[in-house]
Amino acid sequence: MTKTIAQMTEWWRRSVVYQVYPRSFNDTTGNGVGDIRGLTEKLDYLKDLGVDIVWLQPVYNSPQNDNGYDVSDYCSIDPMYGTMDDFDELMDELRKRDMHLMLDIVVNHSSTEHKWFKESRKSKDNPYRDYYIWRDPAPDGGVPNNWQSKFGGSAWQYDELTGQYYLALYDKTQADLNWENEKVRQEAADLMRFWADKGVDGFRMDVINLISKDQNFPNDDGTIMTGDGRRYYTDGPRVHEYIKELYERVYGPYDLVTVGEMSSTTLQHCIRYSNPEEREFSMTFNFHHLKVDYPQGKKWELMPYDFEALKGLLSSWQIGMHEGGGWNALFWNNHDQPRALSRFADDGRCRVASAKMLATTLHGLQGTPYVFQGEEIGMPNPKWHNISEFRDIESKNMYRIMIEMGKEPEEAFAIIASRSRDNARTPMQWNYGPQAGFTDGTPWIKVDERYPEINVKMQRTDPNSVFSHYKRLIALRKSEDVLTDGRYVRLDEEHPQIYAYARINDRDTLIVVSNFSSEETEFSLPEAYRHLGSSQAELLVGNMKFVPEWSSNLKLEPYASFMWIIRG
Ligand code: GLC
Repeated sequence: MTKTIAQMTEWWRRSVVYQVYPRSFNDTTGNGVGDIRGLTEKLDYLKDLGVDIVWLQPVYNSPQNDNGYDVSDYCSIDPMYGTMDDFDELMDELRKRDMHLMLDIVVNHSSTEHKWFKESRKSKDNPYRDYYIWRDPAPDGGVPNNWQSKFGGSAWQYDELTGQYYLALYDKTQADLNWENEKVRQEAADLMRFWADKGVDGFRMDVINLISKDQNFPNDDGTIMTGDGRRYYTDGPRVHEYIKELYERVYGPYDLVTVGEMSSTTLQHCIRYSNPEEREFSMTFNFHHLKVDYPQGKKWELMPYDFEALKGLLSSWQIGMHEGGGWNALFWNNHDQPRALSRFADDGRCRVASAKMLATTLHGLQGTPYVFQGEEIGMPNPKWHNISEFRDIESKNMYRIMIEMGKEPEEAFAIIASRSRDNARTPMQWNYGPQAGFTDGTPWIKVDERYPEINVKMQRTDPNSVFSHYKRLIALRKSEDVLTDGRYVRLDEEHPQIYAYARINDRDTLIVVSNFSSEETEFSLPEAYRHLGSSQAELLVGNMKFVPEWSSNLKLEPYASFMWIIRG
C-alpha cells in the first residue's frame, strides 16, 4: 500500500522536530539549570533553523532522580523549571511563530514520590494498591522473578511495610504503573487531556511499549537475547489495545501528533503502532540502528560499529515501514545516546564535514526527522577527565557495577565516557562567553571544553556552518515532495565505505551518497541510475567544495556527502 503525497495530508509528515532537554538548554535564573523561559527566549533561534515542532522533555514536579522521568505530579511544573505561567507564555510565543509543542509523557511508571505510590505502599487493601505492580516474595523469600532493571540490578524492590515487592524496570524510585487497572488507564488519559486542554499539539510517549506485562511474570530462561525479562513486557499482550484506547480517549479527539518511544521493538509492531488505519500513534522511535556498536547486544562493552549492519537496519525499516503504511521518527541523537558524530564519524579534524554528512544521510530518508539540541552545530561527545564529572543515574550505577564485577577503574571509565547518556546532556553551547552562554551560575553538569570553537554564535550567519547545512536540509523537507512520499531503494551493494540510496516518486528521483570513512573512495551508481544524471542532476546539498562529476565513478573525499535530485 503506497500512498502518494496527495494522500499524506497529515501536516507532521513534512515537519521537523527539535528536541529540547530543558535542564541543559538555556538558564535564565542563574541556578545552573535550564528553564522554560530559557526555551521561550530561544524560539526565534529555532524558528530561524526552520523547525515546526518542539519536543519539550519532562518539566513536571519530580525528585529528579532520572532528570524528570520520575514524575511526582503530572499536572504541574517543577519550580526548578519555572511556573505554569511560564508554560502558558511558552505556548503563546510558539503560537505567534506558528510552531507546535509536543510534551513528554511518562506513564509506564511514576516516581515513588507520587501520591498514588505513597498511598499504594501503605497497605495491601489501600484503594491505590492496584495502581502499581506488587508481588509476594518467591517461596525462598527472594525476588518474585529474575527480571532485571534497565539501570542494573533486579527489577523488584522490596518494601518492608507490607512485605511485598514492587516492579521498577528503571530506577528503584520509578515504580511501574499497573495498566491492567482501568483506573490507571483513566488517570493516564486524564492527565494528557489536562495538557491537551492547555493547547499542546502532541505527545512523545516515554517507553510506551512496555506498559503491558505478561501477567504470569515468568522467569526469563535466557534462551533469547538479552535474557533480562524484556521478552515478557516488551510489545506485551495488551499494548495495542491500551494505545487504541488512548487514541479514542485523547489523541483522536484532540487531533494530536504522537510519537511512541519503542524499546527493543519489532518492525511488525511499529507498523501497527504507526499505520493511521490502526488508530494508535503518528510515528515511532526504534533503536536498532543505534545498537550496531553493542557486542551481542551489550551496551556496556565497546566495539567499533558495524557499518553494514547500520545500513541494513536503516534500509529494512525504510522499506518495511513504507510497505506497511507505518511512519518512522528519524533520528541519530537524543538525550539517552552518546553523540552520533563521535560514534559513526570523525568528531576531530573532520568534525564539520562529518556532522553534515550524517545530517544529509538522515534527512534524505522517509519519516519525520528529529534534531537533538546541539546536533545542529555539530556538538561531539564532551571530553571527560574524571568519573566524578558524570551525573546520570544509569552511568553511575553501571560504573559501580562494573567495578564490583572486577573491571579496572580505567577500563570502566573508558566505557562510561563512550556510552554515558551524559554525552548528550552537557549544556547547549550558545557562544564563546563563560559557560558557553548557558548560565551565569555554575552549570549542573560541566560545559564541554570545546565550546570556544563550537557554538551557535559562530555558526548562525556562516553559510558554510553545520547550522546552515541543517537549515538547508530542513527547508528541503518543505519544498521537495519526494522527501516525504518517495519510496526508498538502497544503491550501495555493501560498499565498505559508502552508504547510498535513492528516493523515488512518480515524478522525481533523489539520490544521496555518503562516505562514512576517513579515506577517499570511489563509488559507481547502479547501471539503471547512471543515465539519469549527466546533465539533469541538480545538486540540492553537499558538504565539499569539490563536487564529483556525475559519471559512472563518483570520487568522494573523506566524509563527503551529496544529495542530488533528478526532476521528472
Ligand atoms: C526513556 C527516557 C529515558 C528515561 C527512561 C525511563 O527511555 O528517554 O531518559 O531514563 O525512559 O523513563
